[in-house]
Amino acid sequence: MKSIKIKNLNYEISGIKILEDINFNIYKEKISGLIGTSGSGKTTLLHILLGLIKQSSGEIIYEGLEKKYFPKNKLQAIFQDPISYFNPNFTLKEILLEPLEIYFKNEFDKKWNLALEYLDYFSISKSSLNQNIKNFSGGEIQRISFIRILLIEPEWILMDEPISGLDPIRRKDSISLIKKIHQEKKISFFIISHDLDFISEISDFVFVMQKGKIIEEGDKNLFQNPKTNFVKELKNSRNLENLKKV
Ligand SMILES: Nc1ncnc2c1ncn2[C@@H]1O[C@H](COP(=O)(O)OP(=O)(O)OP(=O)(O)O)[C@@H](O)[C@H]1O
Ligand SMILES: [Mg+2]
Repeated sequence: MKSIKIKNLNYEISGIKILEDINFNIYKEKISGLIGTSGSGKTTLLHILLGLIKQSSGEIIYEGLEKKYFPKNKLQAIFQDPISYFNPNFTLKEILLEPLEIYFKNEFDKKWNLALEYLDYFSISKSSLNQNIKNFSGGEIQRISFIRILLIEPEWILMDEPISGLDPIRRKDSISLIKKIHQEKKISFFIISHDLDFISEISDFVFVMQKGKIIEEGDKNLFQNPKTNFVKELKNSRNLENLKKV
Protein backbone atom coordinates (compact mmCIF):
# COMPACT_ATOMS: atom_id res chain seq x y z
CA MET A 1 0.00 0.00 0.00
CA LYS A 2 1.26 3.51 -0.81
CA SER A 3 2.14 5.53 2.25
CA ILE A 4 3.99 8.39 3.83
CA LYS A 5 6.75 6.72 5.87
CA ILE A 6 8.16 8.47 8.90
CA LYS A 7 11.51 6.94 9.87
CA ASN A 8 13.54 7.56 13.04
CA LEU A 9 12.35 11.14 13.20
CA ASN A 10 13.74 13.44 15.86
CA TYR A 11 13.24 17.13 16.43
CA GLU A 12 14.87 19.22 19.08
CA ILE A 13 15.02 22.89 19.67
CA SER A 14 17.35 24.69 22.09
CA GLY A 15 18.46 21.28 23.40
CA ILE A 16 14.90 20.21 24.24
CA LYS A 17 13.62 17.05 22.58
CA ILE A 18 10.21 17.76 21.10
CA LEU A 19 9.87 14.62 18.92
CA GLU A 20 11.77 11.45 19.74
CA ASP A 21 12.42 8.54 17.41
CA ILE A 22 9.07 8.63 15.62
CA ASN A 23 8.41 5.69 13.29
CA PHE A 24 5.10 5.05 11.60
CA ASN A 25 3.35 4.89 8.23
CA ILE A 26 0.37 6.93 7.13
CA TYR A 27 -1.43 4.75 4.60
CA LYS A 28 -2.94 6.02 1.39
CA GLU A 29 -6.73 6.05 0.93
CA LYS A 30 -7.26 5.73 4.69
CA ILE A 31 -8.09 8.15 7.46
CA SER A 32 -5.32 8.12 10.04
CA GLY A 33 -5.72 9.89 13.35
CA LEU A 34 -3.05 11.06 15.76
CA ILE A 35 -4.14 11.74 19.30
CA GLY A 36 -2.08 13.34 22.04
CA THR A 37 -2.50 15.80 24.87
CA SER A 38 -1.62 19.45 24.55
CA GLY A 39 2.10 20.01 24.04
CA SER A 40 2.84 16.40 23.01
CA GLY A 41 4.27 17.50 19.64
CA LYS A 42 1.39 16.96 17.19
CA THR A 43 1.53 20.31 15.39
CA THR A 44 5.34 20.14 15.27
CA LEU A 45 5.07 16.77 13.49
CA LEU A 46 2.54 18.21 11.05
CA HIS A 47 4.83 21.15 10.28
CA ILE A 48 7.71 18.75 9.60
CA LEU A 49 5.50 16.61 7.31
CA LEU A 50 4.69 19.76 5.33
CA GLY A 51 8.32 20.82 5.15
CA LEU A 52 7.63 24.04 7.09
CA ILE A 53 10.30 23.14 9.64
CA LYS A 54 13.14 20.68 9.27
CA GLN A 55 13.67 17.65 11.48
CA SER A 56 16.91 17.31 13.45
CA SER A 57 17.36 13.76 12.14
CA GLY A 58 15.47 10.95 10.46
CA GLU A 59 13.53 11.02 7.21
CA ILE A 60 10.09 11.12 5.68
CA ILE A 61 9.39 9.32 2.40
CA TYR A 62 6.31 10.37 0.43
CA GLU A 63 5.07 7.49 -1.73
CA GLY A 64 8.69 6.48 -2.26
CA LEU A 65 9.94 10.04 -2.85
CA GLU A 66 11.82 12.68 -0.91
CA LYS A 67 9.73 15.77 -0.20
CA LYS A 68 11.53 17.89 -2.80
CA TYR A 69 10.52 15.44 -5.57
CA PHE A 70 6.94 14.93 -4.35
CA PRO A 71 4.48 17.15 -6.32
CA LYS A 72 3.55 20.09 -4.11
CA ASN A 73 -0.16 20.01 -4.91
CA LYS A 74 -0.53 16.39 -3.74
CA LEU A 75 -0.03 17.22 -0.05
CA GLN A 76 -2.15 20.00 1.42
CA ALA A 77 -3.16 21.00 4.94
CA ILE A 78 -5.95 22.70 6.80
CA PHE A 79 -4.59 24.29 9.94
CA GLN A 80 -6.17 24.88 13.30
CA ASP A 81 -8.11 28.16 13.09
CA PRO A 82 -7.86 28.34 9.27
CA ILE A 83 -9.24 31.88 9.05
CA SER A 84 -6.02 33.21 10.56
CA TYR A 85 -4.24 31.97 7.41
CA PHE A 86 -6.57 33.96 5.12
CA ASN A 87 -6.11 37.60 4.22
CA PRO A 88 -8.78 39.21 6.48
CA ASN A 89 -9.54 41.90 3.89
CA PHE A 90 -10.38 39.40 1.15
CA THR A 91 -13.86 38.51 -0.07
CA LEU A 92 -14.83 34.86 -0.52
CA LYS A 93 -14.20 35.28 -4.25
CA GLU A 94 -10.66 36.56 -3.67
CA ILE A 95 -9.99 33.71 -1.23
CA LEU A 96 -10.99 31.17 -3.90
CA LEU A 97 -9.12 32.93 -6.72
CA GLU A 98 -5.84 32.89 -4.77
CA PRO A 99 -4.92 29.19 -5.29
CA LEU A 100 -6.00 29.36 -8.93
CA GLU A 101 -3.60 32.23 -9.57
CA ILE A 102 -0.78 30.27 -7.92
CA TYR A 103 -1.39 26.82 -9.39
CA PHE A 104 -3.62 27.08 -12.47
CA LYS A 105 -2.98 30.27 -14.43
CA ASN A 106 -3.49 28.32 -17.70
CA GLU A 107 -6.75 26.58 -16.91
CA PHE A 108 -8.29 29.42 -15.02
CA ASP A 109 -11.82 29.30 -16.52
CA LYS A 110 -12.16 25.55 -16.05
CA LYS A 111 -11.03 25.82 -12.45
CA TRP A 112 -13.26 28.78 -11.67
CA ASN A 113 -16.24 26.75 -12.90
CA LEU A 114 -15.12 23.95 -10.61
CA ALA A 115 -14.93 26.43 -7.71
CA LEU A 116 -18.55 27.40 -8.41
CA GLU A 117 -19.57 23.71 -8.47
CA TYR A 118 -17.81 23.19 -5.14
CA LEU A 119 -19.77 26.09 -3.63
CA ASP A 120 -22.93 24.07 -4.36
CA TYR A 121 -21.34 20.83 -3.14
CA PHE A 122 -20.46 22.49 0.18
CA SER A 123 -23.72 24.47 0.47
CA ILE A 124 -22.16 27.91 0.32
CA SER A 125 -24.35 30.38 -1.54
CA LYS A 126 -22.87 31.96 -4.68
CA SER A 127 -24.57 35.16 -3.65
CA SER A 128 -22.04 35.41 -0.82
CA LEU A 129 -19.00 35.57 -3.15
CA ASN A 130 -18.56 39.29 -2.52
CA GLN A 131 -18.90 38.98 1.25
CA ASN A 132 -15.83 39.63 3.37
CA ILE A 133 -14.32 36.36 4.62
CA LYS A 134 -14.59 37.60 8.23
CA ASN A 135 -18.39 37.34 7.98
CA PHE A 136 -18.49 33.54 7.65
CA SER A 137 -19.04 31.13 10.56
CA GLY A 138 -16.50 28.55 11.78
CA GLY A 139 -18.24 25.69 9.95
CA GLU A 140 -18.45 27.74 6.74
CA ILE A 141 -14.77 28.67 7.00
CA GLN A 142 -13.91 24.98 7.25
CA ARG A 143 -15.95 24.22 4.12
CA ILE A 144 -14.35 27.16 2.28
CA SER A 145 -10.91 25.83 3.30
CA PHE A 146 -11.87 22.50 1.74
CA ILE A 147 -12.94 24.19 -1.50
CA ARG A 148 -9.64 26.07 -1.73
CA ILE A 149 -7.67 22.92 -1.17
CA LEU A 150 -9.73 20.59 -3.39
CA LEU A 151 -9.18 22.99 -6.30
CA ILE A 152 -5.46 22.17 -6.01
CA GLU A 153 -6.32 18.45 -6.49
CA PRO A 154 -4.51 17.02 -3.46
CA GLU A 155 -4.23 13.30 -2.75
CA TRP A 156 -3.40 13.82 0.92
CA ILE A 157 -4.97 16.29 3.35
CA LEU A 158 -3.46 16.92 6.77
CA MET A 159 -5.70 18.56 9.36
CA ASP A 160 -4.76 20.11 12.70
CA GLU A 161 -7.60 20.02 15.27
CA PRO A 162 -10.42 20.32 12.72
CA ILE A 163 -13.26 20.32 15.23
CA SER A 164 -11.91 22.48 18.02
CA GLY A 165 -14.08 25.55 18.37
CA LEU A 166 -17.09 23.95 16.67
CA ASP A 167 -20.35 23.34 18.54
CA PRO A 168 -21.70 19.73 18.75
CA ILE A 169 -23.85 20.07 15.61
CA ARG A 170 -21.07 21.61 13.51
CA ARG A 171 -18.76 18.95 14.90
CA LYS A 172 -21.07 16.22 13.55
CA ASP A 173 -21.29 18.06 10.21
CA SER A 174 -17.53 18.24 10.11
CA ILE A 175 -17.12 14.50 10.72
CA SER A 176 -19.61 13.66 7.93
CA LEU A 177 -17.91 16.15 5.64
CA ILE A 178 -14.45 14.63 6.12
CA LYS A 179 -15.88 11.12 5.57
CA LYS A 180 -17.72 12.26 2.45
CA ILE A 181 -14.62 13.90 0.93
CA HIS A 182 -12.58 10.82 1.82
CA GLN A 183 -15.03 8.47 0.11
CA GLU A 184 -16.07 10.53 -2.89
CA LYS A 185 -12.73 12.15 -3.75
CA LYS A 186 -10.54 9.22 -2.62
CA ILE A 187 -8.43 11.54 -0.51
CA SER A 188 -6.19 10.22 2.27
CA PHE A 189 -6.41 12.07 5.56
CA PHE A 190 -4.02 12.51 8.47
CA ILE A 191 -5.87 14.21 11.29
CA ILE A 192 -4.46 15.34 14.60
CA SER A 193 -6.53 16.11 17.65
CA HIS A 194 -6.63 15.78 21.41
CA ASP A 195 -10.28 14.59 21.22
CA LEU A 196 -10.49 10.83 21.73
CA ASP A 197 -14.13 10.46 20.68
CA PHE A 198 -13.50 12.34 17.46
CA ILE A 199 -10.32 10.44 16.57
CA SER A 200 -11.88 7.05 17.33
CA GLU A 201 -14.99 7.90 15.31
CA ILE A 202 -13.23 9.11 12.20
CA SER A 203 -10.03 7.05 11.90
CA ASP A 204 -9.20 3.73 10.25
CA PHE A 205 -5.78 3.83 11.96
CA VAL A 206 -4.90 5.49 15.22
CA PHE A 207 -1.58 6.71 16.63
CA VAL A 208 -1.15 7.87 20.21
CA MET A 209 1.50 10.43 21.04
CA GLN A 210 2.83 11.23 24.48
CA LYS A 211 5.68 13.66 25.14
CA GLY A 212 7.00 13.48 21.61
CA LYS A 213 6.84 9.69 21.26
CA ILE A 214 4.37 7.34 19.60
CA ILE A 215 3.37 5.03 22.42
CA GLU A 216 0.51 3.04 20.84
CA GLU A 217 -0.80 2.41 17.36
CA GLY A 218 -3.46 0.22 15.87
CA ASP A 219 -6.79 0.14 14.10
CA LYS A 220 -9.81 2.08 15.33
CA ASN A 221 -10.51 -0.53 18.03
CA LEU A 222 -7.34 0.48 19.87
CA PHE A 223 -9.32 2.47 22.41
CA GLN A 224 -11.43 -0.53 23.41
CA ASN A 225 -8.33 -2.37 24.56
CA PRO A 226 -5.67 0.15 25.51
CA LYS A 227 -2.24 -1.23 26.35
CA THR A 228 -0.80 1.79 28.13
CA ASN A 229 -1.94 3.59 31.26
CA PHE A 230 -1.80 6.81 29.30
CA VAL A 231 -4.59 5.74 26.93
CA LYS A 232 -6.59 4.28 29.83
CA GLU A 233 -6.33 7.67 31.55
CA LEU A 234 -7.27 9.49 28.35
CA LYS A 235 -10.39 7.33 28.17
CA ASN A 236 -11.28 7.90 31.81
CA SER A 237 -10.78 11.65 31.67
CA ARG A 238 -12.94 11.66 28.54
CA ASN A 239 -15.70 9.95 30.50
CA LEU A 240 -15.35 12.51 33.28
CA GLU A 241 -15.64 15.31 30.75
CA ASN A 242 -18.73 13.73 29.25
CA LEU A 243 -20.25 13.44 32.72
CA LYS A 244 -19.54 17.14 33.28
CA LYS A 245 -21.37 17.96 30.05
CA VAL A 246 -24.58 16.16 31.16
N1 LIG B 1 9.78 27.01 18.30
C1 LIG B 1 9.69 26.41 19.50
N2 LIG B 1 10.54 26.72 20.50
C2 LIG B 1 10.47 26.12 21.69
N3 LIG B 1 9.58 25.16 22.00
C3 LIG B 1 8.71 24.82 21.05
C4 LIG B 1 8.71 25.39 19.75
N4 LIG B 1 7.71 24.83 19.03
C5 LIG B 1 7.11 23.95 19.84
N5 LIG B 1 7.70 23.93 21.05
C6 LIG B 1 7.32 23.08 22.19
O1 LIG B 1 7.15 21.77 21.68
C7 LIG B 1 6.11 21.10 22.36
C8 LIG B 1 5.13 20.54 21.37
O2 LIG B 1 4.40 21.60 20.75
P1 LIG B 1 3.25 21.33 19.70
O3 LIG B 1 2.69 22.65 19.32
O4 LIG B 1 3.78 20.47 18.62
O5 LIG B 1 2.21 20.50 20.57
P2 LIG B 1 0.73 20.02 20.24
O6 LIG B 1 0.67 18.57 20.54
O7 LIG B 1 0.35 20.46 18.88
O8 LIG B 1 -0.13 20.80 21.34
P3 LIG B 1 -1.63 21.39 21.24
O9 LIG B 1 -2.58 20.24 21.41
O10 LIG B 1 -1.69 22.32 22.43
O11 LIG B 1 -1.80 22.12 19.93
C9 LIG B 1 5.51 22.11 23.34
O12 LIG B 1 6.05 21.87 24.61
C10 LIG B 1 5.98 23.43 22.79
O13 LIG B 1 6.12 24.38 23.83
MG1 LIG C 1 -1.13 21.75 18.14
